[in-house]
Amino acid sequence: MPAMRRLDQVLSALGYCSRREAEAIVRAGRVQVAGAVAKRADARVNAAEVLLDQQPLEAPEGLLAVFHKPLGYVCTHADGEGDTIYEWLPRRWLARNPPVTSVGRLDKDTSGLLLITDVGQIVQRYTSPRAQVEKVYEVTVDRPLDDALVAVFASGQLLLRGEDRPCLPARLEIKSPCQADLTLQEGRYHQVRRMFASQGWHVEALHRSRFGTHTLEGLAPGEWRRLDRLAEAMPG
Ligand code: URA
Repeated sequence: MPAMRRLDQVLSALGYCSRREAEAIVRAGRVQVAGAVAKRADARVNAAEVLLDQQPLEAPEGLLAVFHKPLGYVCTHADGEGDTIYEWLPRRWLARNPPVTSVGRLDKDTSGLLLITDVGQIVQRYTSPRAQVEKVYEVTVDRPLDDALVAVFASGQLLLRGEDRPCLPARLEIKSPCQADLTLQEGRYHQVRRMFASQGWHVEALHRSRFGTHTLEGLAPGEWRRLDRLAEAMPG
């Protein structure tokens, strides 16, 4: 059985308008429910059956999107920390209740794949330490890499400064003297930069190319792609 919710609550929770504005929108005949023009803003509806101005509502069961984060943007809703990733996303996504948020964060100086969602369960499923979702980072360092790093990162014994639990085994594939792909199954604060720093390398550029099964295929920096099948988008 689909959840039945008040029409005005549905429209405001999905970021279209305030509940008060919903009243006027309904009165103007702009809303249809299951094929008939809606008469009352307090009617109980299945959001999937609602049309506003002849268009289905956006992601009525929850929104999930792949976003290509450009360099120079921070992953926060707070003011005063610089330009944020949310400037790239539709305003209506931020007007949703709850508003969209990123699943984990990337540093200001890191580009690449971020998942964006308003579904708390998705955030938990992807960020739970137990889920061990793979994340692939393309790393450029300041001086030629050493093959010995492969074993150090794979060991499961690398202890980062200030921590008492070693990093989970990570896979390093050296691509060229100063470039490698690093695959992690966890997401600690500044983890990639700190792993390389612990061995004496400085990360000059960092880009996340994969998160679970999601990739940035077809997305330029600043672009996003909505995923409509939430259940299929969950990590295995
Ligand atoms: N590791 C980092 O150091 N920075 C990121 O943004 C992501 C992983």
